[in-house]
Formats: sequence, structure tokens, C-alpha cells
Amino acid sequence: MSLEGKVALITGGSGGLGRVHGLVLARLGCDVALTGNRNLEKAEAVAQEIRDMGRRAIGVKMDVADEVEVSQGVEKVTRELGPIDILVNNAAFGIVRATKIVDMKKADWDRDVAVNLTGAFNTIKAVMPSMMERNWGRIINVSSVTGIMGGYGQCSYAATKAGLIGLTKTVALEGARNNITCNAVVLGVFNGGSFYEVAEPFRERIIKRIAMRRAGEPEELSNVIAFLASEESSYLTGEAIVVSGGLDLFTF
Ligand SMILES: NC(=O)c1ccc[n+]([C@@H]2O[C@H](COP(=O)([O-])OP(=O)(O)OC[C@H]3O[C@@H](n4cnc5c(N)ncnc54)[C@H](OP(=O)(O)O)[C@@H]3O)[C@@H](O)[C@H]2O)c1
Repeated sequence: MSLEGKVALITGGSGGLGRVHGLVLARLGCDVALTGNRNLEKAEAVAQEIRDMGRRAIGVKMDVADEVEVSQGVEKVTRELGPIDILVNNAAFGIVRATKIVDMKKADWDRDVAVNLTGAFNTIKAVMPSMMERNWGRIINVSSVTGIMGGYGQCSYAATKAGLIGLTKTVALEGARNNITCNAVVLGVFNGGSFYEVAEPFRERIIKRIAMRRAGEPEELSNVIAFLASEESSYLTGEAIVVSGGLDLFTF
């Protein structure tokens, strides 16, 4: 499997999992742009790690909820690395928020929807026309098991992650005749990143309900994303692939 000659844009490249996705795609030969919003310097540090591997990479400031910033960011990536072949919509907000719907502030709901769902709409809109012109593209949306199972105290997060699955299937349909595939990865829990913001007793409780009895390592997800980004997955589109070590399976 090779991603030689491809350019990838990873949103949330300043975050725990986004960093590892960047490193794994780069290892397969890809040039990579990583976005940061509040922590741009972290995205730039990952870009430096990738340049040290001999690939081209940049950090890009992008609030994915801001349509203008997204389109300016995509222009910058295109200018500096070339047109985007692979888009990984990994940025998210409110990941570990635990607020029951009766206590949820509308402003928090609106922000989560703006980043997690409208953010993916904005980035897809910005990159898809060029993919269509070039008759090739890979779009991978990062969803969550909360999108298929619900999440206690996570109404906005779960709703946006479910929304991403509907968006994925629609983009898959609209891109299919231009060799653009669009798939979602539906995550359980992974070491690093936002999972470590969850208090340890809760992490242990979550792990007890996973069939494999452990959180995933980030690379175990990045490898799935790399496959979905590659030519080798050319006939796979519109799928929501659960990567959870069996968190969504009945266990006891
Ligand atoms: N870790 C897990 O166990 C787990 C489980 C299920 C799903 N996920 C999903 O995996 C993805 C990555 O999660 P993570 O654990 O790596 O989380 P993380 O470390 O908290 O990273 C979140 C990323 O999203 C970015 N982001 C937040 N708001 C943004 C905005 N308005 N515009 C652009 N970027 C924004 C952050 O950028 P700045 O910090 O620069 O603002 C950061 O790079 C998310 O989609 C999350 O929902 C993770």
C-alpha cells in the first residue's frame, strides 16, 4: 500500500489522534497538511516531525466552523503542497462533554454542531470540486460509536457523529462517478487524545464493556484510515466502519 504522490489534509492535526494519522499517512509516502485551531503550534510541530521523515508537511490555521477560514486554508494547502487528494475530517469539539439534555445550553449545542458537522460540510465543499476535476478523491469522516449507540450526557456530540454518517453516505453517492470514495470510521475509545480527559474511574468502566477489554492504540485506527485513503480501497464507499475492539458488541 502506497500513498506516494498524494496530498492529505487532516483537520484536528493538533490533537492526539490527528497527529498519529499524519505520521502514518506520511510513512506511506503522503505529503500532509494538518490543521490547528486553538493550538496551531501543535499542528506545526507534527508537520516538523513529518518533514524530518523526508516528506512535505505544513500546519494550517483553520476553524472548521468558519467557511471563509476553511476555504483560505484549502487554498494555502493547494498553493504549498498541491491539490488535496485525501481529506480526513477528524476535528471535533465537545468530545468529553457530559451534560444531560435538560441541562445543555443551546450555545454549546450550536458550537458542537458547527464544528463537528458543519465543519465537515465546509471542508468537503472546499475540496470536492478539485477532486471531481481530477477524477480521484478519498474522504474519511471520523465518527464515534455514540453516533450509533447514543451517549449518556452527550446529546450534541452523539447527534453530530450520527449526522456525519448520513453526510458520508450522501457524499459517497455524489462522488462515486468521479472515483471519490467517502467513508466514516466509527470509533470506540483510543489511548491518547480526548479519552485521557475522561476521569480514570470512568475510563476503566468503559474499558470493561469492550470485548477486547482495552482501548485501541491510535495506530490501529490510523491504519484503517490509511487503507481508506489508498487506491486499494477503490470499491469501498459509503460505509461506516466500526473500529472499536468490539465496544458495540454485547459482552459480559
Ligand atoms: N480519543 C478517542 O477515544 C475518541 C473516541 C471517539 C471519537 N474520537 C474522535 O476522534 C477525533 C480526534 O479526537 P482526539 O481524541 O484526537 O481529540 P483531541 O486530542 O481533543 O483533538 C481534537 C482536535 O479537534 C480540533 N478542533 C476542535 N475544534 C476545532 C475547530 N473549531 N476547528 C478546527 N479544529 C478544531 C482541535 O484543534 P485545536 O486544539 O488546535 O483547537 C484538535 O486538533 C474526533 O473527531 C473525536 O470525536 C476520539
